[in-house]
Amino acid sequence: MSKKLKILAIETSCDETAISILNADGGFENPSFSVLANIVHSQIDIHKEYGGVFPALAKREHAKNLPLILGQVFSEAGMSGGDLLITDHQKAQMLTLLEREPEMYNRLTETLEELPKPDFDYIAITTGPGLEPALWVGIVFAKALNIAWGIPLIPVNHMEGHLLSVLIDNKEKDSYKALEMKDFQFPALSLLISGGHTELVLMKDWLTYETIGQTLDDAVGEAFDKVGRILNLEYPGGPKISSLASKGEFREDVSLPRPMLHSGDYNFSFSGIKTAALYLSQKLNMTDDSIRASFAKEFETAVTEVLLKKTLKALEEYGCHTLIIAGGVAANSFIKDSFKEALPDYATLLLPKHELATDNSLMIGIAGYFQALSGNIKNASEIIADGNWKLNSN
Ligand code: KG4
Ligand code: ZN
Repeated sequence: MSKKLKILAIETSCDETAISILNADGGFENPSFSVLANIVHSQIDIHKEYGGVFPALAKREHAKNLPLILGQVFSEAGMSGGDLLITDHQKAQMLTLLEREPEMYNRLTETLEELPKPDFDYIAITTGPGLEPALWVGIVFAKALNIAWGIPLIPVNHMEGHLLSVLIDNKEKDSYKALEMKDFQFPALSLLISGGHTELVLMKDWLTYETIGQTLDDAVGEAFDKVGRILNLEYPGGPKISSLASKGEFREDVSLPRPMLHSGDYNFSFSGIKTAALYLSQKLNMTDDSIRASFAKEFETAVTEVLLKKTLKALEEYGCHTLIIAGGVAANSFIKDSFKEALPDYATLLLPKHELATDNSLMIGIAGYFQALSGNIKNASEIIADGNWKLNSN
């Protein structure tokens, strides 16, 4: 099989609707990517009012926007002209598939007839983990494209996407060049921190994972967002806590626990710190700007200390020379700087480019590329959403 593949990638697991078109080449030995189009449409402004992601609304927004974004990525990639003829039989199949999404069916068939028949080798689609209604709408969209174009589908794990997002070199300013593979050595340790996950994953080889620790309750991003609410910050609280914390000073009366710091394993717990933060906030004058900043700083520091201690211990125990930190919370400057400072000399830290830390479809295309090389292509009828898909059960 040729290693050169052109991929359309789709991501809808949470509150970002994203589609990319990329060329990938070089295989496992020397991967390279060129991005022809990459669009992320965030629904944050809609979910803000609810203080978090509202699944039914996320699904509706994905359904509305997917056909629109598809047209946009084609035009961004310079793919124009409408030479695609969808037969009545294909339309009937698509209508059955999109029975519950009549609006998406109408928009999609209209859009498709304005686009050329693409030369993609595969369509990569996130099938889990994530919010099931949101995942499903992306999946039926991808299946409809499969009917219209006859292009095979590759199911992609969202967390594998986050992990592999570091394969785009973050030192390259305005381009999406691939990382040099000398900086990526197995076994690699990966700290995956997002709104729904907090995991320490050992990557023994390409696409081979062992989860060595995870949160027993809330994810780090979730804790940031909940503490954001205590501070009356808009959803998502993570980035806002981070900027507030950068102005804060430590104070004796503002202190929070470091949960499970000495638990002796690689698991985490962040719900206790959120509860402690709530009690602490009731004792303090939370209208005072300097107290609010100290509060944010203490929370960010407590979380970082726990992540740092456990990750560095695992790095040593498993003899890893490559540390990957990925997922939305990997956008946090304090966490990044703390790891850079504490990392032993023998290890290399790989972080995603800032805009690839939070949800995007480019990372799904990258993971899809390696899955395609490994032959993990599925019949459309076999593809289902798995909201709890664990990385090591690939
Ligand atoms: O990976 P992601 O976009 O979506 C999930 O798969 O969950 O991660 C979103 C999470 C949110 O909880 C958000 O608050 C957090 O990432 N986040 C941050 C920062 N930027 C995003 N947390 C802390 N500091 C940041 N700068
Ligand atoms: Zn994510």
